[in-house]
Amino acid sequence: MYAVRPPGISSPVLAILAAVHVLVSGCDDGAAPTGVLPDQIPAAYATAAECGSCHPDQLAQWEASMHAYAGADPVMHALSEMAAAEGGDGSCKRCHAPAQRRQDLLAGRIPGRSTDRLEEGISCDVCHSVSGVPPVASIDFLDAVDPYGPKYANLPDPIDTPAHASVKRNFYSSSTFCAPCHQIDLPSGDGIENTFGEWQSSLLSGMGVECQTCHMPEYRGRAATDGPVRDNLHRHEVVGVDYAYEAFRGIDLAAQRDAIRALLSASVSVTAELPASVSAGGDFEIAVTVVNDRTGHSIPSGVSFSREMWVEVTVREGGDAIYRSGWLKPNGDLVTLSEDPALTGFGSRMFDAAGAPTMFTWRATRIDDSGLLRFGDSRTGTYVVPVPAGTIGPLTADLALRFRPIKPAIIRAVDLERLLPIEIFDMWTESVRVEVAP
Ligand code: HEC
Ligand code: HEC
Ligand code: HEC
Ligand code: HEC
Ligand code: HEC
Repeated sequence: MYAVRPPGISSPVLAILAAVHVLVSGCDDGAAPTGVLPDQIPAAYATAAECGSCHPDQLAQWEASMHAYAGADPVMHALSEMAAAEGGDGSCKRCHAPAQRRQDLLAGRIPGRSTDRLEEGISCDVCHSVSGVPPVASIDFLDAVDPYGPKYANLPDPIDTPAHASVKRNFYSSSTFCAPCHQIDLPSGDGIENTFGEWQSSLLSGMGVECQTCHMPEYRGRAATDGPVRDNLHRHEVVGVDYAYEAFRGIDLAAQRDAIRALLSASVSVTAELPASVSAGGDFEIAVTVVNDRTGHSIPSGVSFSREMWVEVTVREGGDAIYRSGWLKPNGDLVTLSEDPALTGFGSRMFDAAGAPTMFTWRATRIDDSGLLRFGDSRTGTYVVPVPAGTIGPLTADLALRFRPIKPAIIRAVDLERLLPIEIFDMWTESVRVEVAP
């Protein structure tokens, strides 16, 4: 399904990554490694709880992140099974559950080891064992990463700990760190998940505004319980648009959605233009302009083909709607363009080899992402509202820009109706009163 980009960066670092480490030590759950693995498969990752014994703040933040949830996500699992059944690439764990994938590689080699690591998703040790700049749009290097080496990040002068050596690597503060997973290309070379590429082609990439600048904002606290208070630590919730569908690691599910709401309500600028007064029997125009003036990639981004983002317009006289666009049908689906020609939506569409639209990545050979709102771009939705003769008014125009992380049709296609309804987040709302002249 996904193609790997031809190695664009050739660095000595990659050579180091490619060299599988010979283990001088074996392992046993949680304890210090001893012994040599028979065929030199790299060792298992520590659990987040093990790291969290000294890094409790990072643990709590990470648990509320989609990086923690990535391996537990029921939609990912259902789609993965479907992909495998159709002969597509079902090895979704490479990115979504590297800790579990490592256990699978080790399976049977270490008697007595607990092998369930799905709730570890992308764990601390996966991210912090990377010794050199990772490649763009290629995740295979992770199999060779050695979790028994030092822990890498970008902390100035870390204090010593018997738990691990701490080694500074500047690339931890740069977007390239996120690029192996957040860029996935089709064989054609087009990004099917194009977040890194979108960022790279935005002005922000030249201005030192990295993924971390927005997604791992700085705060004051301790990097470890025994460490000093520091001013520029980085939050690990890494908020985006997805949430845990069901109870997960005891996190506060409402707080997780509040964080998404806060991010989305500060991701675009929106202006609405409409007349203050209109005439009965005539019509008037509403224009809603959405500008991506602050999000460092397209909106939506990533799995943009699964997202829904649209403008909703409802004009009422009293309780009765006289006009609407962007409404939900009784089954919860968003109205389509043929049902609502004025609909203003933002998203991408995938097509299979026969040119038919598809919702599934492993069937896709082409993506049309012209419907995304790129950084710096704006789009205006216009709505012509007929005002019936005899309308007395006043009218109320309720306007909203809305975002739903996943289309209900995808949830239904994998028989996960229990996850419905999917939360809809308002990115912007405005209610305007319009007077009616007789
Ligand atoms: C026994 C306590 C302890 C354990 C267990 C522990 N750490 Fe640390 N870690 C520390 C201390 C102390 C620091 C330095 C903090 C400081 O200077 O502010 C540190 C620093 C770090 C850094 C910063 C490195 C740098 O150079 O920027 C990372 C990353 C890190 N730890 C990751 C981990 C991971 C991943 C695990 C689990 C595999 C882990 N730690 C387990 C105590 C621990
Ligand atoms: C200037 C701030 C900024 C930068 C830089 C930035 N983001 Fe975002 N990101 C946002 C905002 C705001 C949202 C929510 C709006 C949206 O969904 O695009 C978001 C959403 C996301 C999402 C969910 C996307 C979706 O809509 O499906 C992902 C994944 C993501 N960002 C990853 C990244 C990565 C990886 C980078 C670096 C290559 C990055 N971001 C750079 C601000 C930023
Ligand atoms: C998706 C990758 C990822 C995961 C998962 C992750 N981290 Fe980090 N972490 C980072 C990055 C990137 C930085 C550096 C941010 C920067 O410098 O801009 C960082 C920084 C740190 C630091 C240095 C202090 C700071 O805030 O800069 C520590 C300590 C740390 N992480 C510990 C952990 C622990 C413990 C976990 C698990 C509970 C964890 N991390 C999970 C990517 C990750
Ligand atoms: C090992 C692969 C990997 C790395 C490295 C990684 N991510 Fe992710 N990230 C993922 C996966 C997989 C998901 C989707 C999890 C899910 O929702 O199931 C994700 C989710 C996210 C989300 C939430 C998207 C949403 O829809 O809510 C954001 C934001 C994000 N990552 C930003 C980053 C940033 C910033 C970095 C670099 C500091 C980074 N990621 C590094 C794999 C990775
Ligand atoms: C190369 C890394 C990579 C691989 C391989 C990968 N994904 Fe993802 N996936 C991501 C990243 C990064 C995101 C976050 C993008 C975003 O949030 O917009 C993501 C997000 C998702 C989401 C949205 C999260 C949610 O909760 O709805 C689903 C579903 C998903 N992936 C399913 C799959 C399936 C199924 C496979 C295997 C067929 C797969 N992924 C393989 C990197 C990967």
